[in-house]
Amino acid sequence: MTRTLLLAPVLAALLLIPVAHAGGNAAAGKKKAVVCFACHGANGDSLDPQYPRLGGQYAQYIVQALKEYQNGERKNPIMVGFASTLTEQDREDIAAYFAAQKPVVWTLRGEVSGSHKRQGTSL
Ligand code: HEC
Repeated sequence: MTRTLLLAPVLAALLLIPVAHAGGNAAAGKKKAVVCFACHGANGDSLDPQYPRLGGQYAQYIVQALKEYQNGERKNPIMVGFASTLTEQDREDIAAYFAAQKPVVWTLRGEVSGSHKRQGTSL
């Protein structure tokens, strides 16, 4: 009984240790994402409709998309090159960076007309 009582705080402390989350580091991701900015925009707000906007995208979506370009499930001649060199940690960090950026929504008319004027509203 005494032994159980002595162990109780130890067990409680063990339970309180937060489970390490394998999430990305946005600051590290910003450095790793420099190469992506040319097309996807510095904050993931691409100015050219042919490049998907990544700002504010769910981190796990970005991680998954990058994995799929790497393993060939998604086929794109441009992205396969950029995705192929990334490690799991790189993907998590880059995704954390873009996910933390403000999403910008453009009007549909702005997209379809190809007008690159900033008609967007920041969310
Ligand atoms: C030379 C231009 C270019 C560069 C540089 C580039 N990308 Fe892309 N990216 C594209 C294009 C084009 C697509 C759309 C491909 C498609 O249709 O699947 C795309 C698609 C994506 C998507 C999928 C978006 C979606 O909505 O499904 C992600 C995620 C992405 N890129 C991340 C990155 C990251 C991270 C980097 C840097 C490591 C990067 N890209 C560098 C051109 C580029």
